[in-house]
Parts: sequence; structure tokens; C-alpha cells
Amino acid sequence: MALHTPGRKLPATPARLAIASAGTHDPAMIRNAEHTDIDDLAGLWARAFPGERTVEQRVLHLETGGVFGGIETAWIAERGGRVTGAYRAYALTQHMHGTAFRMMGLASVAVDETARRRGVGREMCEHAIRVARERGDVLSVLYPFRPSFYLSLGWGMAGEMQAYRFRPESLGEIGRGAGVRRAGPDDTAAIAACYDTVAADTNGLIARTPRIWRSHLEDDSTHAYLTGVEAVRGYMIVRFGRSSTPDDKPLFVRELVASDHDAYDALLGWISAQRDSLRIIHYDAAPDERFAHRLSEPRTPGFQPARYLWAPVARVIRGPMLRILDVKAAIERRVRWSPTAPMSFGLHLIDDLVPENEGPFEVDFGGSRATVKRGAARPTLQLPISVFAQVFAGELSVREALMLGLAECDGDASAIDALFRVDRCFRLLDEF
Ligand SMILES: CC(C)(COP(=O)(O)OP(=O)(O)OC[C@H]1O[C@@H](n2cnc3c(N)ncnc32)[C@H](O)[C@@H]1OP(=O)(O)O)[C@@H](O)C(=O)NCCC(=O)NCCS
Repeated sequence: MALHTPGRKLPATPARLAIASAGTHDPAMIRNAEHTDIDDLAGLWARAFPGERTVEQRVLHLETGGVFGGIETAWIAERGGRVTGAYRAYALTQHMHGTAFRMMGLASVAVDETARRRGVGREMCEHAIRVARERGDVLSVLYPFRPSFYLSLGWGMAGEMQAYRFRPESLGEIGRGAGVRRAGPDDTAAIAACYDTVAADTNGLIARTPRIWRSHLEDDSTHAYLTGVEAVRGYMIVRFGRSSTPDDKPLFVRELVASDHDAYDALLGWISAQRDSLRIIHYDAAPDERFAHRLSEPRTPGFQPARYLWAPVARVIRGPMLRILDVKAAIERRVRWSPTAPMSFGLHLIDDLVPENEGPFEVDFGGSRATVKRGAARPTLQLPISVFAQVFAGELSVREALMLGLAECDGDASAIDALFRVDRCFRLLDEF
């Protein structure tokens, strides 16, 4: 398989263009937020994210510490002594490819409505990248307001879910929920232990603190169910919805986590057994669950035909973007690689914001782990840092990146393509 795309030039990255235009204004002063900033922060975020928490709720949240981190994670941008923006740099841990990576969750990026489109948002993101690298974070994840904005800063879209709506009887008779019980407050530690086991083996789930668990389990509108005798082997967090007609009564499955096939089937069996009461199940499956194959009627209830004789089955939804903050650490600390013979290749990245990431590098893969040193090797894979994040996550294969003109290679890239292949989709259940 030859994956050579001769003579192709990568498009100028938006990051390069944006950097060229930076410096045409007074840079903001960006500093750690303090307790005395809480009122300003609450007001700024309430105006920037209307319809979410009120100012009062935000003040309380900031005073008592947030779900993913407290005031110490907040940064403030000032110009002329006035608060013009703020962001959060959460210090999280993300499991990918057998490694627990330090990850910055970038959140609550907000610019005062009287200071927008003057570069403050971008400056804060560049600052966040520096803050995260200085404290040793290797990855960063965010949920974008607009992907193109963060693409120009080096984040790439990663992760996809298939949002299914289906009738519970479509699952067939699978155990009728035997072995599934409602979780109580005493089950939190066992549920967390089940999640930890599953998460450590995933491509994307984060480590959850007790505070994160409380936000998932202590919400009045959600209920948890679990399966497993001596230990919890699977659990589900659901919300019962309302409808105007009995035949539309919904069940929203917020998350379903199982450590083995039997536990997964038991939880689906419980859903199937609700068929006389809950009529439309909402479940967002990872593509590698191959969920349509579990449903006798995968087509969405009440669907409008697609094309002529096709039908919609699920809606594709996308959320997070991933950035590699430290390329060398990401590659060298990665434990799980696709089985590949030892090999060397060159890697040349385009990263205008973090020159240390650019290389060129020589990557030596010894059969289980890889080392990265400055130098040249052939074939050399060249790609923007945002596309490298997608390749690293398994969102795009090397072959696909070449085919799309997002990467180029001066030789046969088959072995590099094989090395970066993943057997599980990027999946992240927490939103920040
Ligand atoms: C989203 C948000 C943070 C952006 O902040 P901002 O300070 O306006 O962002 P920037 O000025 O850095 O960039 C916005 C655009 O203005 C452009 N711009 C910046 N300075 C400029 C200038 N002097 N002249 C012309 N254009 C300029 C940027 O190039 C960028 O262009 P793009 O549309 O091609 O990406 C801000 O609109 C906001 O707070 N929104 C509400 C909250 C929100 O949605 N937050 C995002 C959470 S993920």
C-alpha cells in the first residue's frame, strides 16, 4: 500500500496567518483569579453564557469550588485595569492508549461583550497553552463554540457519537433486567471503581474526582442502576423525561458503562423491560458499539425517508476537540500501539504556537514503545498539530489524513499508518 502523495503542499494553517496578525493591539494582562474577582467572574460568565447558571449560582459555585476545579483554575484578562475576559484551565487526567495523561480541560473562555473581536479570546487560549505546558500537561481538550476558532490554535475535532432514538422492544428479550438494581448512596464508591476499571482501558475517558461523581449522581433528575454481584460490573445513569402523549414517553440514558459483555447486555435488558412505560429511548452510542446491529428496528421512530428508500438510523453528534501540548511526551508515554514491527520514521509538525512540537523528529518504535529525538528519518510524515491530534486519537488514520490532503509524506507511509491505528473510538463522557 503506497500512501505517498507526491509534491502536495499543505495548506497554510490558520494558526500561521493568525500569528502574523497578532501584535496589532495592546496585549491583555492575564493573571490568576483571586477570591476578590468572584463577582466580576460570575457577572462575566453569566453574560457570556446566558440561560445557564445565574450570577448568584455562579458566585456560590466559585466560592464553594466547581465540579472540575475551583477558583485556582480561573484566569483573568485585564486591559487598562478592567476585566476583559476569563477562562478556566482545569487540571485533569485523561486515559488514552493505556496511559493516564495529564490533560488541560480548557473551559469557560469568555470575553466581555464590549471587548470582542480584538484578539482577547485568542490571547487567552495561547496563554492557557503556556500555563498547561508549564505545569506538565501533555494533552488538552475543550468543547468549542466554533471549531474553526480552536483549529487555528491547534485543537482538532475528535470523537463522535451516534444519537439513537429507539423503541425498547427493538432490543428484544434480553434478560428482562435480571440482575439490575437501583443504586443507592452507598453504591457510589463501587460505581466509581467500575468506571475506573473501564476508563483505564479506554481512549478518552477522564479520571473522576468525588466532586465530579457527585455532579453525576446527586442530581435530583437522574437515577442510577447497576449490575454485578460482588463488584459493580456495569452501571447506567438515566433521566426519565416527560411527553404529551404516552407513546412518546422518553428515557434519556446519560451514560452506560460496562466492564464486560454480560453487564452491557444486562443493562440493555433493563431498558428493554421498560417497554410498557417508557416508549422512546435516547442513547448516544460510540461508533464501535455497532449499536444499530442490536436493534430489530434501528430506524428512528416517525422517521422521514432519506434519499428515496433509505432511512435515518441515528444522528451523528460531535463535541470535543483535542490538542497535543507536548508531542514528545505524548508519543513516548503512549503504552498501547497497534501491533507493528519495529520501525523508524520522520515526523515534522506545524505548530506555530509551540515550536518545541515541530521537530523535525526521528521516531523509533521498538515493537512496544516509541522514542522521539530531534533529527531526520525517512519516510517523513508532515502535518499540522491539529491533524496530528486527530491521528493520535484515532479520529483520522494516517492514510485518511493523506487522502484528505491534510498531511504529506515523502515515501511509503503504510507502516506509520498501521502503527497509529486504534481499535477503540475516542470517547469522552464529561462535559466542561
Ligand atoms: C467566543 C469568544 C470568547 C471570542 O472572543 P474574542 O475576543 O472575540 O475572540 P478573538 O478576538 O480572539 O477572535 C475572534 C475573531 O476576531 C478576529 N479579530 C481579532 N482581532 C481583530 C482585529 N483587530 N481586527 C479584525 N478581526 C479581529 C479574529 O481573527 C477572529 O476571527 P475568526 O472569526 O476568523 O476566528 C467571545 O465571543 C465570547 O465570550 N463569546 C461568548 C462565550 C463563548 O461562547 N465562549 C466560548 C466557549 S468555548
